[in-house]
Amino acid sequence: MSSFGWGGLLIRIILNRVMRYDSKTIALHWATVALVLILWTIGQTADMLPRGPWRGAYWSLHFFLGFVFVAVLLLRIFWRSGRGTRLPPADKGILRTLAISTHYLLYALLVIVALLGIANAFAHGVSIFGLIKLPRLADHAVAESLTDIHGLAANGLLAIAALHAAAALVHHYLWRDSVLERMMPGDASRLK
Ligand code: HEM
Ligand code: HEM
Repeated sequence: MSSFGWGGLLIRIILNRVMRYDSKTIALHWATVALVLILWTIGQTADMLPRGPWRGAYWSLHFFLGFVFVAVLLLRIFWRSGRGTRLPPADKGILRTLAISTHYLLYALLVIVALLGIANAFAHGVSIFGLIKLPRLADHAVAESLTDIHGLAANGLLAIAALHAAAALVHHYLWRDSVLERMMPGDASRLK
């Protein structure tokens, strides 16, 4: 127990509720970040491997984690539009508009990359570790163009996410406010 006793504990619990995102929102945010980074890295590097079973397994991991990512994204949108915590943007004026637009843009790009990924998987008729084989619904040329557009959208997502992450770090290290802390697991004791 801290030196503030029960009163201090109660204040911490209340602060925790009103000043930071709930634990599900935080878990879904960081699961999305991890999946996007892994999926993008696999997508960019898979064709560097020689043709053969290892390359196939590496792509299978992309397709499998791709479907996990779709599930996490659906859960996230469901939770965010229902009981998930909503906090007022920390910035004012133009920065506030920029922060809100960036968040909408990130959600839009997440959905676009996911939809193009699913379309791409069916266009190629991919196999996932040889266990599941999707039906092939398009010819080779269509499948190849879908891969290009999916890859382009994925790069766009990474670029906007990098700006968004930089903004979070500027808040934390330069402006020293609690914007990053409220999306971090833990309790309210570190909030400024
Ligand atoms: C944030 C999520 C995702 C990211 C960042 C991502 C990224 C990428 C990248 C960079 C490529 C390579 C594109 C190129 O070569 O031009 C790729 C290919 C591909 N992705 Fe994704 N992807 C994601 C989600 C998904 C999902 C949900 C699926 C569907 C299950 C999927 C299925 C595919 C397929 C089928 C290919 C083409 C594979 C091939 O050429 O054989 N992706 N992805
Ligand atoms: C692929 C990478 C990322 C994606 C797709 C992403 C997506 C998002 C989205 C959509 C939101 C809005 C949440 C909402 O209001 O519903 C958000 C909030 C947030 N993200 Fe990220 N994010 C990524 C990476 C990061 C990284 C690397 C950091 C930290 C360095 C970060 C820190 C934050 C913070 C602090 C918030 C809360 C902002 C506020 O309360 O105004 N994000 N993120």
